[in-house]
Amino acid sequence: MAVLAGHPTGEPMPENPLTAGLERLPVAPTTLVIFGATGDLARRKLLPALYNLAHEGALPERFHLVGVSRKEKENEDYREECEQAIRRFSRRPPDEDVLGSLLENVKYVPGTFDEDSVYSELRQALDDFERQDGAPLNRAFYLSTAPAFFPVIVEQLGKSELAQHENGEVRVIIEKPFGTTLGEARELNRHVLAIFDETQIFRIDHYLGKETVQNMMAFRFANGMFEPLWNRNYIDSVQITAAEDLGIGSRADYYDSSGALRDLIQNHMLQLLCHVAMEPPVSFTAEEVRNEKVKVLQAIPQPTEAEIPEMAVHAQYGPGHAGGDDVPGYLEEEGVPESSNTETYAALRLEVDNWRWAGVPFYLRTGKRLARKITEIAVTLKPVPHLAFSQDGSLGVQPNQLVLTLQPNEGVSLRLGAKIPGTRMIIRPVNMEFQYGTAFLSQSPEAYERLITDAMRGDATLFTRNDEVESQWRICDPIVKYWAHTNPRQHGPLPSYEAGSQGPKEADGLLRDGDRWRAI
Ligand code: BG6
Repeated sequence: MAVLAGHPTGEPMPENPLTAGLERLPVAPTTLVIFGATGDLARRKLLPALYNLAHEGALPERFHLVGVSRKEKENEDYREECEQAIRRFSRRPPDEDVLGSLLENVKYVPGTFDEDSVYSELRQALDDFERQDGAPLNRAFYLSTAPAFFPVIVEQLGKSELAQHENGEVRVIIEKPFGTTLGEARELNRHVLAIFDETQIFRIDHYLGKETVQNMMAFRFANGMFEPLWNRNYIDSVQITAAEDLGIGSRADYYDSSGALRDLIQNHMLQLLCHVAMEPPVSFTAEEVRNEKVKVLQAIPQPTEAEIPEMAVHAQYGPGHAGGDDVPGYLEEEGVPESSNTETYAALRLEVDNWRWAGVPFYLRTGKRLARKITEIAVTLKPVPHLAFSQDGSLGVQPNQLVLTLQPNEGVSLRLGAKIPGTRMIIRPVNMEFQYGTAFLSQSPEAYERLITDAMRGDATLFTRNDEVESQWRICDPIVKYWAHTNPRQHGPLPSYEAGSQGPKEADGLLRDGDRWRAI
């Protein structure tokens, strides 16, 4: 009988061929420091991810956690908060022993991020852990604060000589948003790169940690049958959707200054586009993979003012019905200014101007308060050149479409034309389906579990490089600026859509003749 690596109870589990290869890679002993330790992201995502890694035996044997935040509190109080967050948000109910040993040594350092004393106390905590273990530890600093604090934290880490460690590796993990304009992203890159080397920097885009996003590469480059078709000769259009049914919740402060384009398209959706469009990397290393993604981004022409109204649509949700309830419009959400022009929906038509993709439209759309939560990539092939049996009424014939669903119900489906049983030659679309849940009989880890482990291992493949972030901003910046300066008297008010709907009708204006948005 094979025992699954790190099973918490130590109970032998029956050998299951479908779970072969699911073991995690080893991670060197590390202290993880979370700045913004009491924030929403830490509570909802980071702490539960750490618990689940501990549960699976995927944390290093010697692992320590330090929380840094403004609020004054004792170690014990912070441990209790961590415990509550894990109980509430973990994807599995916690095992008391695993939880207890994870939280046993957690330390808390209070203070504002520009205070020198915070960093001397932090150094003390880091040194204490090493003394206690009798061996050096790598250090990973996770910046999970409001972006305004990124520069000051990085500067202070440099000033207090915490950016290097003579006996171990030091890494810095930076949350999104990485700047809010191209100028800011460049400035932040300059700032961080003055203190840390690029190999120490891990810019988070949590979509890259999703199993299904990584599977895009396996799907394209481990199967001989798709790659020959994967180009402008066979592919008609690509449609990428990241729709959410929820509104902005309690995030008005952040969201109103961001909007849908900056919140999702500039990062997650352009990354998805890169995975569809990139050339096969020579090897699956951080540099090779990221080189190929940057080439895709560089092949997307920067939109000009004259082009923007033709290739970009933005809109805001009004009141409507979602999840069985009447819900308010964006302007009535708590904390949103009455006259806000922030878009909660954005759609773009982009082109990737290179040998493989010239002329193929890439449609991207995202929005809050749409009909349901769905993230998918739909690749539509060109129609067949001639339909010999059209006289038999085969009106249902549609081009082949490959749909990669990232969430929920992760899987791949291929639309084919098939004959309806009977004497006549009538064709109807049918789907060939593959679903992760049934194929691997295992729950996918949360994106943050994978990303935290990779950062601690020093593997940057699933993180965004400096030139990648800047290339993403190069595409979005002119649109953000154009929308910010659009005068409603000249261009009409910001289009709106009913909460719980398919989005604004204006988005249809982006589509080429014959193309349609898929139903959300
Ligand atoms: C975040 C955005 O980056 O991604 C949120 O800030 C959005 O507004 C979220 O809801 C979507 O992530 P997921 O993993 O739920 O698709």
